[in-house]
Amino acid sequence: MFFEKLSKLLNSAFHRTPQYITVSVAEAQSVSQPAAALPPSRLPRHVAIIMDGNGRWANARGLPRSAGHAAGTEALRDIIRASDDWGIEALSLYAFSTENWARSKEEVSALMSLLLKYFNSEIDELDEKNVHITILGDVDGLPEPQREAVVNAMARTKDNTGLKLNIALNYGGRAELVRAAQRLAEQVKSGQIDPEDIDDMLFEQQLYTRESPDVDLLIRTSGEQRLSNFLPWQTTYAEFIFDPINWPEFNRARYMKCLREYADRDRRFGGVKTDASGEVSP
Ligand code: FPP
Repeated sequence: MFFEKLSKLLNSAFHRTPQYITVSVAEAQSVSQPAAALPPSRLPRHVAIIMDGNGRWANARGLPRSAGHAAGTEALRDIIRASDDWGIEALSLYAFSTENWARSKEEVSALMSLLLKYFNSEIDELDEKNVHITILGDVDGLPEPQREAVVNAMARTKDNTGLKLNIALNYGGRAELVRAAQRLAEQVKSGQIDPEDIDDMLFEQQLYTRESPDVDLLIRTSGEQRLSNFLPWQTTYAEFIFDPINWPEFNRARYMKCLREYADRDRRFGGVKTDASGEVSP
């Protein structure tokens, strides 16, 4: 117990300080880009990913869709590790939407099994790495074994101070906003707050993502260019990158390529760009 705590402490003190990221030659070659370093100030604090294309990846290989989700889980493992290695503050992954229940019984069941397997096999390593797990979505609507696994994972990692890993399960963006509005309405009704007290900050406190900053970068694989009800509030000022490859083929090198593209973007948040003297620059 003592050593576990010490290791987490050391992890958060040293490992989590964002470092300049260098891309290995092999990685750089695989994305046909020169090796480059990214300064921590150009890194997104919060990355959200829509892991799309598992089904198409499997179809193209004559495999069942469940094989695509299994391959997608491997990609997810690597991207979580990379986010931790590179000092990303928060990573949100869209794993199962409220609309996904409409898929075939076999596919839903395969996804639920993968989920359970993932939490059972990864929780020790994630906790050891000081990862803080939050489930975005209605946990009570999950089958009991999955509900128990994710509730335990959240409880076990609640005091961890490393990567904020948000996994959207049984999640819908509009439902999240409606839930927040209902909670605030309850507080008004009980006299805890006045309607005019409601502002962005108070509203955000009612969202599943209340512990994470706004999304800076949203990545969607498979070439689709939609938000699909994922984090509509949190992505208001996010940069979007659509990678044409299917999720099982997404890897560290592709991820780095996205981070590099993000670092080159000029974010204005609705304002204008100013130079060091405060002058408006072109
Ligand atoms: C979208 O691809 C992907 C999903 C609906 C599921 C994503 C889930 C995983 C990657 C693994 C399970 C998650 C965890 C946390 C272990 P699609 O099936 O819609 O692909 P398609 O558009 O090509 O059909």
